Amino acid sequence: MKTQVRYIHFYITLLVLFIMCFSSCNKNPEGWQYPDMSKVPPGPLGDSIKYGKELISKTPLHIGPEVSDITKRYSGNNLACENCHIDAGTRPNALGFVGVYLIYPEYDSRVDSNISIQQRINECMQRSMNGRSMPLDSYEMRCVTLYYKWISSEVVPQIARWYDGLPRLKYLSRAADTTNGRNVYRNKCMTCHAENGAGGYVNGKPKDGFDIPAIWGNDTYNNGAGMYRLITSAQFIKAKMPFLNADLSDEEAWDVAAYINSMPHPQKQGLEKDFPNLTKKPIDCPYPPYNDTISQFQHKYGPYEVK
Ligand code: HEC
Ligand code: HEC
Repeated sequence: MKTQVRYIHFYITLLVLFIMCFSSCNKNPEGWQYPDMSKVPPGPLGDSIKYGKELISKTPLHIGPEVSDITKRYSGNNLACENCHIDAGTRPNALGFVGVYLIYPEYDSRVDSNISIQQRINECMQRSMNGRSMPLDSYEMRCVTLYYKWISSEVVPQIARWYDGLPRLKYLSRAADTTNGRNVYRNKCMTCHAENGAGGYVNGKPKDGFDIPAIWGNDTYNNGAGMYRLITSAQFIKAKMPFLNADLSDEEAWDVAAYINSMPHPQKQGLEKDFPNLTKKPIDCPYPPYNDTISQFQHKYGPYEVK
């Protein structure tokens, strides 16, 4: 009997230690900093890394739809990558890029095979940027990749996890409500993103890029983008919007995400070919085909877990 009691203490101690380790492993170790951009080496390699960052921060100035060199018009809208990948992907929990270089090649359900980091970049080019792929051997593609390599160079896996992706959000037990979403939009988003969702341009000129990015209309992500899917969009909005003052309740985040994605977006052709293995298709993918009996409406608006 006595030994059993002792064992119980032992197991409880183990469990507590395990929980402590588990929670701290997911946190950014105090003071850790991604590799400093000011320490980028001088010379052509350093110039490429810096230009890679510039491409992510000021995308429309270099590869936007209105740049003078038409061969460089890769992007179909005037968004910058960092409108979603905040601070050029160096902000934790905001679709970060720190560590991303180490993750690829990785399985991608959209094509049901392993893809390279360059192929993943081109998925965002064709969808989030509503444009076309950058050739793998282009200077731009090499620079973006070198930038990823630089900011990933001192990363250990638990830090990479902290940066990767978006914080999870509890599913609603009802469908997201676009009428409530519209109210949230008018109260909490419209002052910046404008009544028509079109945001605002630097100097009022599209070619100078956005001060505040468009979230619906012609000059934004298309209906094949991750941001067009309700779960991804609600998670991003909950974590980051209103910008620098993210204070929405979970319900508000779901509803406003449903509202902005019920408004018009550029349309991508050929989406029925996405996710060739339908068992791997994300539940919030709003376009068919599906291999389940859930309605199209429910795929777009949820609920995703019915009790
Ligand atoms: C409208 C928002 C948006 C814009 C703009 C955008 N992305 Fe993304 N990106 C996403 C989302 C959302 C994901 C997460 C993938 C998903 O869930 O589909 C992602 C994922 C990625 C990933 C994979 C990250 C990982 O952890 O595996 C890379 C690389 C990437 N984007 C590169 C870019 C580049 C380069 C640009 C600019 C040329 C860009 N993105 C512009 C929304 C955006
Ligand atoms: C104070 C101004 C401000 C407010 C208010 C605000 N945003 Fe934003 N939003 C921004 C800025 C600025 C960015 C781009 C961030 C960057 O480039 O670092 C952005 C980016 C976004 C993006 C990703 C980029 C894109 O074009 O798709 C979405 C989606 C978004 N906001 C939705 C919302 C929603 C929904 C609300 C209301 C809950 C909201 N925002 C409130 C300023 C704002």
